[in-house]
Amino acid sequence: MTWTKKDLLDLYDLSAEEITTILDTAAEFKKVSQRNVKKVPALRGKTVVNFFVEPSTRTRVSFELAEQRLSADIVNMSADSSSLLKGETLLDTVRNIEALQVDLIVMRHRATGAQNFIARNVSCGVVNAGDGAHGHPTQALLDIFTIREKFGDLKDLHVAIVGDILHSRVARSNAWGLLKLGAKVTFVGPATLVPREFESIGVRVCHDLEEGIRDANVVNLLRIQRERQEAGFFPSTGEYSRFFGLNRNTVKFLRKDALVMHPGPINRGVELDSEIADGTQSVILEQVTNGLAVRMAVLFLVSGCGRRNA
Ligand code: CP
Repeated sequence: MTWTKKDLLDLYDLSAEEITTILDTAAEFKKVSQRNVKKVPALRGKTVVNFFVEPSTRTRVSFELAEQRLSADIVNMSADSSSLLKGETLLDTVRNIEALQVDLIVMRHRATGAQNFIARNVSCGVVNAGDGAHGHPTQALLDIFTIREKFGDLKDLHVAIVGDILHSRVARSNAWGLLKLGAKVTFVGPATLVPREFESIGVRVCHDLEEGIRDANVVNLLRIQRERQEAGFFPSTGEYSRFFGLNRNTVKFLRKDALVMHPGPINRGVELDSEIADGTQSVILEQVTNGLAVRMAVLFLVSGCGRRNA
């Protein structure tokens, strides 16, 4: 298929065919990182600005590496060293970056919809590296890539996503992508963090860990943020861990052939115990490896579309 989109904002916006095109392209780019010379000239002459207004380790480093491996020119910007601190608006900031003839902006922002707003107002491409509690499309793509690599096909696979769904951009993006590719998705967690309203997007909602994961082919654990306990979403992290964490007591609910995933960073001993995070069923570091290939594919496809007015 011919790629036509200049932005990657979320999987909600993509067809199953477009998602499959990204995954197939990523499979080709994965081979580049396995060579002695880990570089191709695909983005030579293109300029990418990485603009992270929120902390990141995995996403930021893998975008930077992906750009380098595609031979792009790159500039890294963070909020605390930009003129946002002097009161410049986000839109003015991005319009000034665009005026420097930049081809792509990779952006993470705490505000839901920030990247959609920017993409509507600039002609360069915008790639969403995570916005608020809304979307994290490249995380979902790398999760789906990892699942497809292990099982071959997503159709009728059961993926359970466990934890703080309410505040999770990873859960939303995964659900949109997985459902489009024919997987079944269950959101698992306490009712305060997994409200029944999510059923309206086509997922099953379950408030019991054993019931939610016992026939799952994949269990994706989400990070539990301690501030949620302070806000009263659950009584204590110890209690959360006992009822919804994957640990030596609850691992018996897991199928022996199920994959254990986590987007990172892990709160070890809260949502996931170390012996499982580092155990034989875990593919957590493979997810990170695949993130590089997926981000290379996204940058390649989106940049190929070029400027709207070109
Ligand atoms: N999974 C993820 O987005 O991790 P970072 O916040 O470290 O980028």
